[in-house]
Amino acid sequence: MDTALVSNEEFLATVAEKSDGAALRGDYSTADAQYVVKQNWAAYTQEEHALWRRLYKRQEALVPGRACDEFITALAALKAADGIPDFEKTSEALEKATGWRIVAVPGLIPEQAFFNHLANRRFPVTVWLRTPAEFDYIVEPDVFHDYFGHVPLLFDPVFADHMQEYGKGGLKAMKLGGLDYLARLYWYTVEFGLIQSPQGLRVYGAGILSSGGELEYCLQNTPSRHIPLNVERCMRTLYKIDSYQETYFVIRDFKQLFEDTAPDFTPMYERLKQVEPLPANTLLPGERDLLAGN
Ligand code: PHE
Ligand code: FE
Repeated sequence: MDTALVSNEEFLATVAEKSDGAALRGDYSTADAQYVVKQNWAAYTQEEHALWRRLYKRQEALVPGRACDEFITALAALKAADGIPDFEKTSEALEKATGWRIVAVPGLIPEQAFFNHLANRRFPVTVWLRTPAEFDYIVEPDVFHDYFGHVPLLFDPVFADHMQEYGKGGLKAMKLGGLDYLARLYWYTVEFGLIQSPQGLRVYGAGILSSGGELEYCLQNTPSRHIPLNVERCMRTLYKIDSYQETYFVIRDFKQLFEDTAPDFTPMYERLKQVEPLPANTLLPGERDLLAGN
């Protein structure tokens, strides 16, 4: 799931427009006040399950040596290779492991509903699957991105706690005018984050884990930056939504992510409002690319 950076009114306007402009996919007509729908697992077609299997196979082949161990272990335990998973079954396993559940949603949802779910240890997962033409690239998050990319790490206790804190932090940022900054943090960590391992850099960001091309690209020595995470620097950095990232922020471990985001962000938001954002490919004096020279 990705944060939709729009207000409730703007969001509903976008959904209404979709009948002629196709801005957002998904059927919002049966959603409840928290944007939750029924998954209706029995309605997926054989073609959809087959497309899922193809997507899964490609990513599964790419994760060894690239994804972090926590992801690889949890993914294997999910046994989701054979078709689009039944969310209810996953929720039962997840609830036992970390107290999280997944809830079905029609697609992107307004930020307040999104943060509210996270703050209550519920992860929203889109019900629909991309079309075969979108095998390599999709603009909106679908069930493959949301489930394959995000769900495995919710089995990690520290990461799971971090996601709940993020949800609470989002509700707080809405009142403080901090949403743009918090969205950048989410983008560069939960979606596109890299993590250290004794064997070298690994991926934990869902946007990379569910992408065929970027999973290889992000760990190579390219013009893109690979720099240690500094939360305030990260929240100041613009990001790309239509190309591979120009900067990847690297954490030591999930404990660092939890601890570095624990302080009150109020003064940080105030400082960030006083300065210009940094372009996505910035390398500041004193920063060094962790992959340069490899
Ligand atoms: N500590 C942040 C605040 O005070 C909240 C937060 C926690 C944000 C975890 C992101 C991740 O606003
Ligand atoms: Fe996402």
